[in-house]
Amino acid sequence: MMLSGFLLLLIGFASQTLAQSQPWGQCGGIGWAGATTCTSGWTCVLSSAYYSQCLQSASTSATTTPATSTTTTTVKTTTSSSATATVTGFPASAPTVPPSKLVGQTPALGWNSWNAYGCNINEAKVVAAANQFVSLGLKAAGYQYVNIDDCWPLAARNASSKQIVPDPAKFPDGISGVATQVHALGLKLGIYSDAGTATCAGFPGSLGFESIDAATFSAWGVDYLKYDNCNIPANWSDTGTPQNNDWYNSNSAIRYRQMTAALAAQSRPFQFNLCLWGNYNVWNWGSRVGHSWRLTGDASATWSFITTAITTSVSHSATGFGAHGDMDMMEIGNGALTIQEQRTHFAAWIMLKSPILLGTDLSLLNTTQLAIIKNAELLAFHQDTTVGGPAVPFTPFSSAPTTSPPEYYVGKSSKGTHVFIINTSSAAATKSFTFANAGLGSSGTFSVHDMWAGTDLAGTYAASATFSVTVQPHDTVAYFINVL
Ligand code: GAL
Repeated sequence: MMLSGFLLLLIGFASQTLAQSQPWGQCGGIGWAGATTCTSGWTCVLSSAYYSQCLQSASTSATTTPATSTTTTTVKTTTSSSATATVTGFPASAPTVPPSKLVGQTPALGWNSWNAYGCNINEAKVVAAANQFVSLGLKAAGYQYVNIDDCWPLAARNASSKQIVPDPAKFPDGISGVATQVHALGLKLGIYSDAGTATCAGFPGSLGFESIDAATFSAWGVDYLKYDNCNIPANWSDTGTPQNNDWYNSNSAIRYRQMTAALAAQSRPFQFNLCLWGNYNVWNWGSRVGHSWRLTGDASATWSFITTAITTSVSHSATGFGAHGDMDMMEIGNGALTIQEQRTHFAAWIMLKSPILLGTDLSLLNTTQLAIIKNAELLAFHQDTTVGGPAVPFTPFSSAPTTSPPEYYVGKSSKGTHVFIINTSSAAATKSFTFANAGLGSSGTFSVHDMWAGTDLAGTYAASATFSVTVQPHDTVAYFINVL
């Protein structure tokens, strides 16, 4: 296709995503600010108060009113596992096993099928992503996890073993066959399940089947589990605040704790991602249950999503080794984000220590986009093994204006001090800070190193001196401060 035609297609796709959610996309739920209707032939289906999803109209019935939008929504009634799950996890007896310390200490780096392909996945696409990790230099840059999202199994479990069955039309070699190919490349494989009776797209959920599923995933060679929160039976839901505001002992947390314990009983270490869209105060208990926890509803390739995710992460940064707020999967390569917005998307996920799971067809990335996601200095900050915590906002000079999200951040690594500055406005702007305000003390001499370019900038500065830079609209500059 001619470049101009391709661009038009992209622009058309982007404007469509603003108006209507795409197949399998999120279309409602508490805190959701995106589109609340679906493209033709798809219906917005209420999964829980926190999540509605565009599903194919034929698989739904029973009209009701959604929690947070005025669009027509239906409640799914035909999933294979609508039976009430037995309650086995009362607080006193619920497992308290922590997540493995062998993996997930620095935030995950990898790829996930969802943003690129939704339900339209298969073995060829997953194995292609793994091969592209190698051929595009992503493996060498540190990307490791190749993760399969929703829609990989058949609709029903095996009747006798009760195991989830990979759809043979999509995965002819099974998940174990994919794991073999991914492992042969020196990479790791991730899979998706759900802490309810069915996944968001209606495939078997793991509630009540935690031990069987964890053992099956382990036998297949899976290394990472993303665990979603759709289709929760009433007796496992949280309708109000738990006693003593103790969300670790809420029904929601206990559903996830069952899986943490089941994973811990396997011979393989699993990295465990909790996908509860930033609900149930997950930032207070997530690190006791998993390695990372989603902070928001589903990502979209929009500036408003990027800023919302940053704002949310900044206000809930219970982050450190083995404990990462998940700002959701990357949209670099999708939609119509400007290159500056893609730089901010990457830099913000880096500095706030979110998992970074690429979410596009990697073969379509151009050299500029590849340079962004392979930037060695930014990735080194993200994967630092000395400092686990994120960069935090600082006041760059007295009486600086406040913005949402904040624009100025300072972070530490094994190398020293880093400063990140986001221009949240849609016009180029001069941004300034003093070294003293960035926590570098009241004396000393400093120079500035540009992490994107890998070069030192001209000039030396006293602690009280002001450093200024022009930042492009929605761009982020990333600096290491040399102490001279
Ligand atoms: C959502 C989740 C998405 C994706 C989708 C699959 O709940 O937030 O990231 O996994 O389910 O149906």
